[in-house]
Amino acid sequence: MSLSLDTHIQRLPKDFLFGVATSSYQIEGSDFGNCGLSHWDEFAKQSGRVFNNDDGSIACDHYHLWESDLDLVRDAGFKAYRFSFSWPRLLPENAKTVNPDGIAFYDRLIDGMLERGIQPFATLYHWDLPARYAQKGGWQMRDTANYFADYTDLVMRHFGDRLFSIAPINEPWCVSWLSHYWGHHAPGVQSISAAARSMHYIQLAHGLSIQVMRSHNHNYLGCVLNKEYAVPFDETEEAANSTHLFDGIYNRWFDESIFNGTYPEEVLTLFDGHMPDNYINDMAIIKEPLDWVGTNYYTRSLIQPDKSEPNIGFKCVRGNLPKTDMGWEIAPEGLTHFIKRTTHYAPDLPHYITENGMAAADDIRQGNLHDLDRIDYFNSHLERIADLKAQGVHLAGYFAWSLLDNYEWAFGYAKRFGIVHVDFSTQKRTPKSSYLAWQNALANRP
Ligand code: FCB
Repeated sequence: MSLSLDTHIQRLPKDFLFGVATSSYQIEGSDFGNCGLSHWDEFAKQSGRVFNNDDGSIACDHYHLWESDLDLVRDAGFKAYRFSFSWPRLLPENAKTVNPDGIAFYDRLIDGMLERGIQPFATLYHWDLPARYAQKGGWQMRDTANYFADYTDLVMRHFGDRLFSIAPINEPWCVSWLSHYWGHHAPGVQSISAAARSMHYIQLAHGLSIQVMRSHNHNYLGCVLNKEYAVPFDETEEAANSTHLFDGIYNRWFDESIFNGTYPEEVLTLFDGHMPDNYINDMAIIKEPLDWVGTNYYTRSLIQPDKSEPNIGFKCVRGNLPKTDMGWEIAPEGLTHFIKRTTHYAPDLPHYITENGMAAADDIRQGNLHDLDRIDYFNSHLERIADLKAQGVHLAGYFAWSLLDNYEWAFGYAKRFGIVHVDFSTQKRTPKSSYLAWQNALANRP
């Protein structure tokens, strides 16, 4: 256990960017500023979907507390802030009627970053789909990708020239497979057909959005893909095949379509009869060239063949490694694996780790929030990054997840990922030991 983040941070060069990440629905408070309803507001109302039926209506009240939250980002020494725009905040009622309060909020927020010397790294969609589109089939519908392109244009017209970097979609696997096959996230659908359609339309939305942003001459556009390290449960051929399929669904579907314009064969076989007609005609759009690539990395899964599992024939289980409060195993070797693999898909692009961090229950001793496990978690992953950087890999930056304890989706407020503690009854922020470790390490940089 260490109280310091110095060792590996000091091995990284001066121009390596350190930032911290959040997302709109998880922190802003959808009750404020005439924000429209998203499908998460509706999902949270359905019993059994979200722990405690918690929703993001108040969340961290960042809508009002954004100034002091940005001060926390600056005071830690982070030079970049990864945040997302809320689509229903900007367009609460329909695709055309813009909410002036939403525009004013993001104007304040972006100007606030720039005044503090913090680079805005924007995401256009971190899961808060306007409820009106969800009611019509959401990401199972091609129309939603077109609406997303129009929304992209709105964001670009108002804010584009102040954004250092933009990614259309946070974690397309979560938007599609997790939400439409496993049904763990809004809209909670469980169907192979819905999964196939959403996995294609979310990629189409990515490509269309990149085209719109290019037409506004933005020159730092990327993607944020979440990766989970797949390890065969045993040495059988079945486990190897299942692991290959899992990796195809979770990871390579997104890499291969964005960087090669193809989908993995074994996943197309799984989706036989379910893919949208003529999907192939969209592949050139999905493959629009990018300027950087982002990876969100948290954990690994062991893949165990299980014939009783319909369609896929496997289940994901956890192994014996130490676990976070999410039950996720701590496996930094997976980060090394994906960084290396990304250099194969995108050899020329700068690579950012756009999310990495862990959930840990509060540990309050002598008035301090001693999240020493979290410091260890960061260290074990930063070590991998510093090693690869020393080997010449084009790694450009790292974003800790997350600035604040926040709305952790289906887990409500029960899981805490923040480097700053939030008391949700008073909205009081208290930096944890990990925040102080970041602050010290970033202040000590050459
Ligand atoms: C990622 C999400 C983020 C947060 C972390 C823990 O998948 O992008 O919003 O929930 O996991």
